[in-house]
Amino acid sequence: MSSNETVMIDQNGRVIVRSHAEVVRLAHDPEAFSSAVSRHLQVPNGLDGAAHAEMRRLLDPFMDADAVAALLPTLEELATELVTALVAAGAPFGAVADLGARYAVRAQSAWLGWLPEWEEPLLEWVAENRVASRTGHPRATAEAAHRFDAIIRELLRRRREHPRNDVTTRLTALRREDGTALRDEELVSILRNVTGGDLGSLALCTGVVVHWLAVHPERQDGMAAASDHDLDAAIDEILRLDDPFVSNRRRATRDTSVAGCPVHAGQTIVLDWRAANRDQEIFADRFDPTAHAAANLVYGTGAHVCPGRLLATTELRVLTRAVLAAGRIELAGEPEREEDPVAGFRAVPVRLVR
Ligand code: HEM
Repeated sequence: MSSNETVMIDQNGRVIVRSHAEVVRLAHDPEAFSSAVSRHLQVPNGLDGAAHAEMRRLLDPFMDADAVAALLPTLEELATELVTALVAAGAPFGAVADLGARYAVRAQSAWLGWLPEWEEPLLEWVAENRVASRTGHPRATAEAAHRFDAIIRELLRRRREHPRNDVTTRLTALRREDGTALRDEELVSILRNVTGGDLGSLALCTGVVVHWLAVHPERQDGMAAASDHDLDAAIDEILRLDDPFVSNRRRATRDTSVAGCPVHAGQTIVLDWRAANRDQEIFADRFDPTAHAAANLVYGTGAHVCPGRLLATTELRVLTRAVLAAGRIELAGEPEREEDPVAGFRAVPVRLVR
């Protein structure tokens, strides 16, 4: 691997962009750096231009301020119930698997109108998908995708047979501007990309936040008493410092250059959010939510900026409040880091002390 400060070329010839300025520039130039990087259909992630914009217009309202406000009481109930059960069990628990992953599945199921019986298969899928991403093995990745597709196709079939007043039913009723319905494989891809992948992200984000609080006990009272706005800013800053959402790919559409490095048409470029979020040209080496908020890239930037940001931020705030209200967070064992290319923690054993 060769490198300078802002860009690296890996053994597969992929250009890894690490500087904040270049990551932002590329994310805002979708004509030169396309998101159509996969052989598989990826909606909306892998779309460009008008097709991408149309899909975002259809999907963004499912995650807007009204949708999140309507979900808030349910999220609060789910978080309190889960944390109360973990405390009542009286034993240390895992902030990623027992808290984050379980809460993520319940929160997303509540959002989409999925039944509790899907919780275990979805949790198994999250664990399997994480192993597949860690190993990068194409067969494992394909099998994990296949398993998720089977779960989703079954859900869509049931909702078409028995429509309900929920997001999944409303997705099946979406129509493009020309009046055509979305194909099944598009709906499966949306549900995989909009929700499935993010079940893992939310669990990893929970691990990073709970770990940070455990190793910064002096911050816990202040965070528990903070306003929603200040708590959201603090959580965004914790995630910036230790971003578990590592990177996204782009494909150069023409010969060009990135951070002074020549790039040819068709070459894969990796936007390294994690490195850009620690770029010392932009960020001081400290926790400073106010100073660092504007440049924070945890949820991306540009046309593909995360549409689930408000939902994810609200879910994380509600869970953090429930944990802080239940006791002081202490580590109950050695945290285990995830392995490259996944970031964050595989396990963060904690206890809540009254
Ligand atoms: C839990 C923390 C989350 C993090 C850190 C995160 C981060 C990101 C980032 C960095 C991108 C930009 C991808 C790119 O530029 O190629 C993105 C896109 C996306 N995120 Fe999130 N996300 C999170 C949660 C969610 C949630 C809860 C949802 C939906 C419920 C969601 C749905 C999406 C979708 C659909 C895209 C693709 C948007 C597009 O291509 O236009 N994310 N996310």
